[in-house]
Amino acid sequence: MAYFLGIDVGTSGLKSVLTDERGRVAAAKTVEYPLYQPKNGWAEQDPEDWVSAAAQSIRGVLEVSGVPAEDVVSVGLTGQMHGLVLLDGHDRVLRRAILWCDGRSAAECGEITERAGGRKRLIELCANPAIAGFTASKALWVRNNEPEIWSRAVRMLLPKDYLRLRLCGVYASDVSDASGMQLFDVAHRRWSDELCRALDIPMSMLPEVYESPEVCGKITAEAAALTGLKVGTPVVAGAGDNAASAVGMGVVHDGDAFVSIGSSGVVFAHTSEPRFDADGRAHTFCCAVPGKWHMMGVTQGAGLSLKWFRDTLAGDLRARAEREGRNVYAVIDEEAERSPIGSNRLVFLPYLMGERTPHLDPSARGVFFGLSASHTLGDLARAVMEGVTFSLRDCLEVLGDAGVRPTSLIACGGGGTSALWRDMLCSALETPIDLSPSAAEGAAFGAAVLAAAESFGSVESACAAMTSRERACAPDAQKSAAYRPVYGIYRSLYPVLRENYTNLESIG
Ligand code: XUL
Repeated sequence: MAYFLGIDVGTSGLKSVLTDERGRVAAAKTVEYPLYQPKNGWAEQDPEDWVSAAAQSIRGVLEVSGVPAEDVVSVGLTGQMHGLVLLDGHDRVLRRAILWCDGRSAAECGEITERAGGRKRLIELCANPAIAGFTASKALWVRNNEPEIWSRAVRMLLPKDYLRLRLCGVYASDVSDASGMQLFDVAHRRWSDELCRALDIPMSMLPEVYESPEVCGKITAEAAALTGLKVGTPVVAGAGDNAASAVGMGVVHDGDAFVSIGSSGVVFAHTSEPRFDADGRAHTFCCAVPGKWHMMGVTQGAGLSLKWFRDTLAGDLRARAEREGRNVYAVIDEEAERSPIGSNRLVFLPYLMGERTPHLDPSARGVFFGLSASHTLGDLARAVMEGVTFSLRDCLEVLGDAGVRPTSLIACGGGGTSALWRDMLCSALETPIDLSPSAAEGAAFGAAVLAAAESFGSVESACAAMTSRERACAPDAQKSAAYRPVYGIYRSLYPVLRENYTNLESIG
């Protein structure tokens, strides 16, 4: 029997998924690793942790499934986007990777815009404005702040592409992940010569770029010894985690879209032509279907906000979950459900790690607005979930302004498994919500589907054979009407706080 392996270098851990050609998952295994936050707003990881997690997780799925390595036809890679891995001339990692959710490079965004000849020209060149989350500003930050490290840097790679180097010994990336580096001509699907020159980044530092289903490497003997895979197993280019998730749920045609609540939150819509937001509030990237694109709004702190709530404020709920042997998020949901729409007049802004869509402001921070002595933990929990939901509505609005209007959204990510959160999404976004069984396996499953694309002839045919979806809920008119004024207040808060965020940042 033919099997396909997908590997996702995520932010909280690395996940491997092994599936057959009908999309039936034979085994999946996640291995976690630490996230370092040496300063407020910084986020780093040790690339060596990804490699050892990959070894453990790949060995794990082979063992649990009992599938012989010879039956793994090909491998697909995916991962957190934008992270910067810098290597010296001997492929040694020069510093910890600076991740997508790290906001240290705001000043470098100004530098990029200036060097590129202004915001308009920058958007023409790479389809997006300068964003602290993207790779180029992180590279410039290293050049400006750690010149000694920069002087030794010979290569820069994205997280999944560093793992590829260790698995296959090649420097390669794919068009969707490369789109998020701010050095890629997204409309023409190639590195931007002009932008690299303007930013003074030698193109020799960048990997070769492929379309997502193309084979670009093979498992080396060293990697085979590490992982248990067979020497010579082909590895396809794969995709950034959002583009891979889309494939894993069959989001590969116009009108198809998903909403994801993982660490970050995303509204992702497939487009057969590149569509742009004139103000650059949502991203336009190549997607994993050759010759196609997607538009995507990103909120920085989605599941991350509820996890923060769980870890810092919800000690009582954690204790209850432990006592009752239940999942802590099920207990949080139960508590949040006791609070009405609007959380008893409490509004949460989920900007714990700054915000991208629609504010593009790494200085933004979280807020509980309207907090009163009468509020319960349940009100706070609901406000956090509603705040994240409203930030996703902001994403949907920005896509709508660019003429991209999904007919329904597949809910996915950890948050998508909560019936309460799905109900909020459905009525607050006023859009039907669908479910896809493979969503639970996330981007790793999509990477496995990309690995299978060649066997099926195309990404779309692989999706037709390996994925499915069904309607979960339709918007409730009464609930939608109740969410509208709360969303109105949510939207009005950031503009009045904007200046104070900068003031706050200037305090030592
Ligand atoms: C997308 C983005 C995040 C990461 C999270 O632009 O930064 O979704 O890819 O894994």
